[in-house]
Amino acid sequence: MNYTPAIDRLERPLRDLRVSVTDRCNFRCVYCMPKDVFNKDYRFLPRAQLLSFEEIERVVHAAAELGVTKVRLTGGEPLVRRDLEVLISQIRAIPGISDISMTTNASLLTRDRARSLRDAGLQRLNVSLDAMDDETFMRVNDVDVSVRTVLDGIENAAMVNFDSIKINMVVKKDLNDHSILPMARFFHGTGHILRFIEFMDVGNSNAWDLSQVITSGQIAAMINAELPLRPVEANYRGEVAKRWEYLDGGGEIGIISSVSEPFCGDCSRARLSATGSLYTCLFATVGHDLRPALREGDADAVRGKLQALWNARADRYSETRTQTAVVHIRPKVEMSFIGG
Ligand code: GTP
Ligand code: 5AD
Ligand code: SF4
Ligand code: SF4
Repeated sequence: MNYTPAIDRLERPLRDLRVSVTDRCNFRCVYCMPKDVFNKDYRFLPRAQLLSFEEIERVVHAAAELGVTKVRLTGGEPLVRRDLEVLISQIRAIPGISDISMTTNASLLTRDRARSLRDAGLQRLNVSLDAMDDETFMRVNDVDVSVRTVLDGIENAAMVNFDSIKINMVVKKDLNDHSILPMARFFHGTGHILRFIEFMDVGNSNAWDLSQVITSGQIAAMINAELPLRPVEANYRGEVAKRWEYLDGGGEIGIISSVSEPFCGDCSRARLSATGSLYTCLFATVGHDLRPALREGDADAVRGKLQALWNARADRYSETRTQTAVVHIRPKVEMSFIGG
């Protein structure tokens, strides 16, 4: 049956669903899960509170009926959730879903795991890596995982021919900005798309301030001085990253400038937390619990709730963050809870 596509108050359709499958991660990246907050006293979600795969499947099914075609699995770290392949094959079978991807730190991506994820129907992979030298990378991840471990994960992924592998580098001034060029040089010519991400004020734990942001303009200029670039058209309306390609044919890079050039105007993304709450913006302070609708057991209830939430949406946080009038009274949701 055809349903009316969900359109929000700013005329933006619902196209992507980012599904967080766990709030846990084996890393403690200083900008995401700093150890002084995410320590042994931190209360991660009890297993019983996580949506089951069957419940996630029902939400994705309802979302697909409203226009969602892309699903991204996130965490925390999605690979710490057991049997993820089962969920992927369930999502794969949902009519209308044409793109299934995952954002991961790749530290747990063995060759067998890469193969089983691919076989289950995972199409694309985005891997977070913030430096090319161990000293910096370990300072970022704070759990002594080496660069080699992540590169091995990327190689294992490349071996099973994902449709694309992108590398995500969050750039934070004085933490890893000296790695911008080494990262560009390393991934130049590999076929993997390296994307630089402006450090964002997500969550409440990373003590963000604007002076720690290296802007997309600065990043592009730095790379262009050594490896000349030209801008490329977006693949589709609402693409998060601005694309650039190397003039020498060494492939493309992307820059995600949520701070200096926000992209809320085309934002078609909803986020589902591991506990079944829907967030209509990465910077939302409250989620909307879908579990009551899921418990009602019928597809109409979940679809109706999603439709109502999306139709009421007017979020554009990144476009308003610098306006002093917009002050967050309630704490924002943590990045590790909602998956970026
Ligand atoms: P593709 O489908 O491959 O383009 O993936 P993606 O870039 O949408 O997802 P990914 O998980 O790789 O995200 C890369 C960075 O973009 C992360 O830092 C995200 O937090 C950020 N990002 C993704 N979507 C949004 C968004 O809607 N708003 C903001 N502000 N940042 C976002
Ligand atoms: N700013 C920008 N990107 C971030 N990520 C995590 N925290 C931040 C932040 N404060 C990135 C991760 C991953 C993606 C899901 O979000 O590195 O690539
Ligand atoms: Fe884990 Fe990714 Fe957050 Fe790092 S950025 S702590 S890898 S969820
Ligand atoms: Fe979408 Fe919110 Fe990100 Fe803007 S800040 S692009 S509305 S998720």
